[in-house]
Parts: sequence; C-alpha cells; structure tokens
Amino acid sequence: MENIDLLTRHGLFDAQVPRYTSYPTAPIFSQDVGAAFQSVAIAALDPAEPVSVYIHIPFCERLCWFCACRTQGTRTLSPVEQYIETVKQELKQMAALLPDGVRMGRLHWGGGTPTILPPALIHDLAQAAKATFPPAEDFEFSVEIDPILVDDAKIAALASEGMNRASIGIQDFSPDVQAAIGREQPFEATQTCVQSLRAAGITSLNADLVYGLPHQNAAKITDTVQKVLALNPDRIALFGYAHVPHMAKRQKLIKEETLPSDIDRFVLSTLAADLFCKAGYQAIGTDHFAKPDDELAQAAARGDLRRNFQGYTTDTCSTLIGVGASSISRFAQGYVQNAAATGAYTQRIHDGDLSGFRGHELTVEDKLRARVIEMLMCNFEIDDAELAETYGTLAASLDVTHAQVLVKFDGVTKRGPNGLMVLPEGRALVRIIAQLYDGYSDTKAFFSKAS
Ligand SMILES: C[S@@+](CC[C@H](N)C(=O)[O-])C[C@H]1O[C@@H](n2cnc3c(N)ncnc32)[C@H](O)[C@@H]1O
Ligand code: SF4
Repeated sequence: MENIDLLTRHGLFDAQVPRYTSYPTAPIFSQDVGAAFQSVAIAALDPAEPVSVYIHIPFCERLCWFCACRTQGTRTLSPVEQYIETVKQELKQMAALLPDGVRMGRLHWGGGTPTILPPALIHDLAQAAKATFPPAEDFEFSVEIDPILVDDAKIAALASEGMNRASIGIQDFSPDVQAAIGREQPFEATQTCVQSLRAAGITSLNADLVYGLPHQNAAKITDTVQKVLALNPDRIALFGYAHVPHMAKRQKLIKEETLPSDIDRFVLSTLAADLFCKAGYQAIGTDHFAKPDDELAQAAARGDLRRNFQGYTTDTCSTLIGVGASSISRFAQGYVQNAAATGAYTQRIHDGDLSGFRGHELTVEDKLRARVIEMLMCNFEIDDAELAETYGTLAASLDVTHAQVLVKFDGVTKRGPNGLMVLPEGRALVRIIAQLYDGYSDTKAFFSKAS
C-alpha cells in the first residue's frame, strides 16, 4: 500500500503515456517521409551489417474483442493468398533496390495471425523473404502463433523454414475472462500447441499474457500464472490491457464496468510479476520475464537489452525492414510506415512503388533522446559515458532534463555511478519519466494507461 501511495503521488494512475517501442513514437510521423525515403534508405544499406525483417500478416479467423492489433477477420483463404502475392511483389521491389550482399539476421512474422497461412503459403512466403534477404549464418526466425489456429503441418512447415522461436498468445485462462474478451482458448489446446512446438525442435517459447482484462481478479490471474508455469515458457510478456475503443472499435463489445480499477490493475500486475519471479523467472524491463539462462535475461544482465516494435529484444541490428500493410521500417536515417489499410498498401505495391506513406527523418537530437529513452526502458538507468562517447557535447543538453527528473521524481530516482537511475520502487513510473525526455510529448496523441 505504501508503494501504491508513492506511485499515486507521482501520477501513475493519471498518466496516459507511450509504450516507447520507438522514439519518436508513431503518432508524430508525417507524410513528408514516405516511399522515396524508404527507397533511398534501402539502396544505402551496408552489406556488412545484417538487417532484421518483420512481415505483417493482417488476418485472423477470430477477432478477439480486446485486441488492438491491426488485423481483419476472414473465413476464407482467398484474401490471404492475394495478400501474400502482394507481399512477394513488395519483396521483389525491395530486391531491385538492395545492394548486393545484404543478409537477413532475423526474420519475424507478426500479426494478426501468421499461422492462418497453410503450409504451402508458409513455404512460399519464407522462400520469397529469403530470396530477397539471404539469411546470415546465425539466422533467427520467430513467429507469433495463435494456439487455436495452428496444427502439426503448419508447425512442421515453419520449422523446416528455420523457425527457432515461437510466441504464443494466451492472455488469460479463466473461462469468464475469455468469454468477456471474445477469445475462447482451453488450456488443453494451448498445451497441445506447446507440445507440438517443442516436438518440432522449437526451443525458445514466449507466452503473451494481459492484465487488466474484464472480470480478472487475484484468484484468476494466480490460476492463469500457475497454468502458464506448467507450460514452462522461456519468456513471458505481461502486457497491461490497453482499452482504446475509439481506435480498436471491437473493444466496444467490452463492458467498461467489468474492467478492474486502475489500482486493481496495478495489484494484478504486481501479483503476477511476483509469482513469476518466485518461480525463478527474472523480470526484464517493464513487462517481460525470462528464465535466467535465456538470452533475453543474459542480454539484460550485460546491459545489452534493446527495445523495438515487438517490445524487448536481444536484436542489436540497427536496421529493421518492415514488410506488409502497416509495417514500420527503422533505418539509421529514420522511420517509414507502410500504408496501413490492406487495400491502400496493395494499390501502392501494384502501382510499382514501395508502400511507405508516413514516417520521420531522425535528427541527431532524436537519436540521442531515443537512446536515453531506450536505456531507461531497458535498464532503468542512463549511461552518461556511452552518451558522451556517441553524441559528444550534445549529450550535455539533457543535463537540464536530468535535474528536472531528479526533483520531480525525488524518492524514486537518484544520480547513480553511471548516470540517472530509477530506483526499484519507482520502476512502474519509468514510461512517465521517459516522457520527460520526449521532445515531441506535446503531441495530442492518445496513449495507453501508464499503470
Ligand atoms: C498479434 S497478437 C498475438 C498472436 C495471435 N494472433 C494470438 O492471438 O495468439 C499479439 C499480442 O498483443 C497483445 N495485445 C493485443 N491487444 C492488446 C491490448 N488491447 N492490450 C494489451 N495487449 C494487447 C496480446 O497479448 C497478443 O497476444
Ligand atoms: S489476439 Fe490474435 S487472434 Fe485475436 S484478434 Fe488479435 S491478432 Fe487476431
């Protein structure tokens, strides 16, 4: 309770803040940066540095009411087949621009539901991606998997294409919570999926959970955590439910009076986090947990943890190429987002152009602020020496902000041996603290609850 009072005083339960999966955040992107910028950045890639590739599959068979992901429902495969043809064309258009020798270090398929693809389309898409971006020697391939929409044949196809990491959506195992979010998922079906993935040789498994869902309480989240522990994942992501019905219209089906209060959300997240830590997982950043021998935990211990659009990662590639509708690419020069609606994306690709339509060109100051925010989100600590080495005297321009943070967040921050630190009791406030380093935070964009 003492900690809740402290966090309340610092505004945890009033704030709406970005999740800082990028800086600047997507709402400030403008249409000044688009396909032309994307083409120049792709053509300028350095073949000596592998790139990461993200492919978005914006289709699901079921449309869960709680979900804020960019996706559309389909009962037939024909829109999916047409979409994969467009993605293949986009990859060819990229191949025409790429310098020789660029290799793919990592490939991630997200959605939506990539496992809506039948085996033939899985092979087709994976081969097209590898034809454009030949895999590097230590290539890693991760896929988001809906345990209800996958079978052994799909898992075998993914594994034969090199999938070595899988992320499964769980959210909550309580039947009444599942009913209230429009997502039925028996424990047994999830367990079968996990067994099939392990039998196919997938050694790295992540489970997605969400706290703050309708009807969730301490007993139900405890039961969910115990069931998740029985599945023995290597990593767990525990996201706070973002209720944004004006953006994700299907969330209107969720009755707001069934949602836990802000303080109850916090209690639920703390309870689940404690249970994972007691079971031997290590807390990573703001919302992940990993076994101590998992690479994510090891990267965190070394101070090498990174943050990208998927959350926390060990991926240190500076270039991420986003493929498919709504995907965002990150280049050294800046961000570019593809057209978000599948129709607009398809039209642009069929017109022979790349599909970038909004983005942001990074200034040196943006890069400095991005790195500070990433340090806070990953390590809860700013490394002044690294900033001075990379940004020289510009790093000192943030001294005023450091001083303001230390005053405003007195008691939960301090000046440590390397630079400003967020103390363990203040870690829940880190996104609010990070926002003070955000040069665009006046933007009237809507973000999710800080708690
Ligand atoms: C693309 S989905 C998962 C893959 C797959 N389609 C499935 O349902 O299992 C990615 C994850 O985003 C998270 N997510 C979606 N909507 C959310 C929301 N409104 N608030 C918090 N997390 C959300 C969920 O944990 C979900 O598993
Ligand atoms: S949670 Fe997964 S299956 Fe459900 S709507 Fe979102 S992306 Fe689709």
